[in-house]
Amino acid sequence: MVQRQLPNPVELLELMQFKKPQLDGKKRRLDGALTIDDLRTIAKRRTPKAAFDYTDGAAEGELSLTRARQAFQDVEFHPGILRPAPDVDTSVDILGGPSALPFGIAPTGFTRLMQTEGEVAGAGAAAAAGIPFTLSTLGTTSIEGVKAANPHGRNWFQLYVMRDREISYELTRRAAAAGFDTLQFTVDTPVAGARLRDKRNGFSIPPQLTLGTIINAIPRPWWWYDFLTTPKLEFASLSTTGGTVGELLDAAMDPTISYDDLAVIRDIWPGKIVIKGVQNVEDSVRLRDAGVDGIVLSNHGGRQLDRAPIPFHLLPEVRKAVGDDFTVMIDTGIMNGADIVAAVALGADFTLIGRAYLYGLMAGGRAGVDRTIEILRTEIERTMRLLGVASLAELEPAHVTQLTRLVPVTRAASDVVVG
Ligand SMILES: Cc1cc2nc3c(=O)[nH]c(=O)nc-3n(C[C@H](O)[C@H](O)[C@H](O)COP(=O)(O)O)c2cc1C
Repeated sequence: MVQRQLPNPVELLELMQFKKPQLDGKKRRLDGALTIDDLRTIAKRRTPKAAFDYTDGAAEGELSLTRARQAFQDVEFHPGILRPAPDVDTSVDILGGPSALPFGIAPTGFTRLMQTEGEVAGAGAAAAAGIPFTLSTLGTTSIEGVKAANPHGRNWFQLYVMRDREISYELTRRAAAAGFDTLQFTVDTPVAGARLRDKRNGFSIPPQLTLGTIINAIPRPWWWYDFLTTPKLEFASLSTTGGTVGELLDAAMDPTISYDDLAVIRDIWPGKIVIKGVQNVEDSVRLRDAGVDGIVLSNHGGRQLDRAPIPFHLLPEVRKAVGDDFTVMIDTGIMNGADIVAAVALGADFTLIGRAYLYGLMAGGRAGVDRTIEILRTEIERTMRLLGVASLAELEPAHVTQLTRLVPVTRAASDVVVG
């Protein structure tokens, strides 16, 4: 028999204590986002389709990006037990300086398209969090503008070597003069990948209005208000003739860049230099032997060669081949702090986030990027605690198994037992 009583008014009152409503709409929206995927959902709602798709999309069938994200989801962690980690230290030394977290912001082109604050929001959020910010050659804020947004923190510059070499050299000199400490030389873009969503949306630079764009604008008035009432959206360091991003890339990039260009850039650049877009073990070793300061295993977020190798799968093999002392960073597919922990466990010194940052930017400008960093920080700390490690240095390959859905044919064939 259940024992019943009359409702107690005091208990009832306790139940009825409602939380004070959050009147600041942006704060309410961002606080409600618990994952990077949640930020993506908000971003999609608030951003015109062509701008969202330019960011969210990848090349051709978008297989590289899907696979890279899947590879992180297919991680199995192996926690140690009864190892108290009340405080976790998420800081690292990377390329001669500190970072409060094991990730930095990746270079992204045309960033003010996503949300008008663009790189200034990214650099400001990076400064507040104590992590590095990377400005793209195709950025929409000048080198000096980024320096002003992150005057005391670490700024990195991403270089595309263009047909007109002098433009690239001049940018390199300007970034050095502004105190940027690391150059990321991107090498996976001899030609532009086929970004089919951009083609289908008729997306061009500068953006053009069509009937479809106008209909799509109706539920997104704030983006348009920002767009129309702030300085013109254009590349800060390049002049363009117009076209899709792919067409612009093809016109500007030189498909003949080689190790000779690397030698020239090294003469001009006084700081650290890392090569971004490395996709096999052999190139990793060759670059180490050529004396660069590090590499970024990356397939450009799946935006270049579709079906390219998954950087996260390459990581253990590359680390083994280059040894412990060479800096190996990784990007493509990171959507969760646990992805970053897994990468560090398997030998990455550092990671970069592209879309995770841009989803935050589109969801809420500077406050949205702060939220991205906060979400990743919380996930990193919680994963480390649950694994029983107190610092990143304690993470090791034994903490992670990479479950693979896709197995190379040769291995699969040799594994087949006939009989
Ligand atoms: C919208 C967008 C623009 C990008 N522009 C550049 C660029 O100008 N230079 C570059 O080296 N990489 C660029 N990337 C690639 C990123 O630096 C990074 O490698 C990639 O976004 C990592 O994958 P993720 O988005 O899954 O984190 C861009 C990526 C995106 C999403």
